[in-house]
Amino acid sequence: MAKNKNNQAIWSTRIKSNTSSLFQKVGNSIDIDKRLYKEDIKCSIAHVEMLFKQKIISFKIKNKIIYGLNKIEKEISNKKFEFNKKYEDIHMNIENRLYQIIGEECGYIHTARSRNDQIITDFKIWIKSSTKKINIIIDKLIVTILKLAEKNIYTIMPGFTHLKNAQAISFAHYLMAYVEMFSRDKKRFTNNLYSLDENPLGVAALSGTSFNIDRNYTTKKLGFKKPTNNSIDTVSDRDFVLDFLYSASVSSMHISRIAEDLIIWNSEGFNLINLSDKIVTGSSIMPQKKNPDLLEYLRGKSGGSYGNLFSMLTILKGLPLSYFKDLQDDKEIVFKSYDVLINCLKILDEIIKNISPNKKRMLELGNSGYITATDLADYLVKNNSMPFRKAYQKTAAIVNLAERKKKNLDQLSLEELRKIEPRLSNDVLKVFDLKHSVDSKKSYGGTSFDNIKKMIMKYRNKK
Ligand code: ARG
Repeated sequence: MAKNKNNQAIWSTRIKSNTSSLFQKVGNSIDIDKRLYKEDIKCSIAHVEMLFKQKIISFKIKNKIIYGLNKIEKEISNKKFEFNKKYEDIHMNIENRLYQIIGEECGYIHTARSRNDQIITDFKIWIKSSTKKINIIIDKLIVTILKLAEKNIYTIMPGFTHLKNAQAISFAHYLMAYVEMFSRDKKRFTNNLYSLDENPLGVAALSGTSFNIDRNYTTKKLGFKKPTNNSIDTVSDRDFVLDFLYSASVSSMHISRIAEDLIIWNSEGFNLINLSDKIVTGSSIMPQKKNPDLLEYLRGKSGGSYGNLFSMLTILKGLPLSYFKDLQDDKEIVFKSYDVLINCLKILDEIIKNISPNKKRMLELGNSGYITATDLADYLVKNNSMPFRKAYQKTAAIVNLAERKKKNLDQLSLEELRKIEPRLSNDVLKVFDLKHSVDSKKSYGGTSFDNIKKMIMKYRNKK
């Protein structure tokens, strides 16, 4: 609880007894929201500059307050500031210290504002800059993935549906799928930057203020696009928090899917990729083990991220307008999601740098499971003028034949193939070649080598 010179709570004229010690213990948020100190000071400086411009406070008072705030910022940055749970949150801790530094005139700082508009302004500014940091880290990760893709354009592997061999693909094409996912994540975060770009400062507690303030001035100073339209909505709105948490959840979901792919591919059953010793851990009992713990860590972390999104949705469900203490938890939730996401993105970057494809095994697995069956069906449509459904049936019959003979498709002789479709010529045998199969998928977005090269170039040039 903030105290004035006589060591009384700011609201002590009205509230006679001290806050119960239990509530003082749980009701404060300083350990969490002290992270917003820079934003809070920036916001207060813009506010007092506006109050001065509007002739609500004098030049001298404005300067005194700004002097005090700058001093406080230095103290906090240099870890010389003593945060006190008694003063609840970052706003009151700073105001209390300002009182110690400049005295009674500190009281002007809270003219025409409330902690309700103050906190959302701080928080929006924080989310803006943190979103930019996330996008920079995603960009780095994209570059790392592009580098690995560039080296593996001609690395052929099976593409899966239902985790069964489906069609042959380039490993680079697979990697480029992740690039798409992370590029969408960036867009999703960036969209939130556009929708949150409205300045809450000046709506005060919930109804605005009778002072002749200039919200456009603080809007400009604080780098927002426009002031918010409705004071009640402004102090109640946490949509921007949800959008941030949702974006973080989707990104963490992408990370978990990649992690799972890599875990499966690293298993003995698949053995498609090797993880360098830097990113595996051992077992306390089984001496042979090299476990992909880090990948499992990434896969697991999405759970917490979804939990944070659902915590916030639940806090907001049915909450009447406008401000309630319930909303205070938004910071802790967002900080948790942010910290974990940043960590996971960095870990994934490190992991991508430390994986190598087992090319021989990829090709070997790709050559099993009749993976070129669709290529054969396509060939029949193109060269033996039959409808796709008919070609599908013929190809299925050829696959059955191969299965009976315990052969792969490319091990069948032309004579054997002709038993099912007599018109087939020697030319058909090329469709069983995986490289040919991959490179034949020239439709936009397909796995042909040219397509992949162009896509890698496109993303490389964006960087
Ligand atoms: N620490 C508070 C929060 O984060 C600031 C707003 C307090 N407003 C109030 N009316 N108690 O939500």
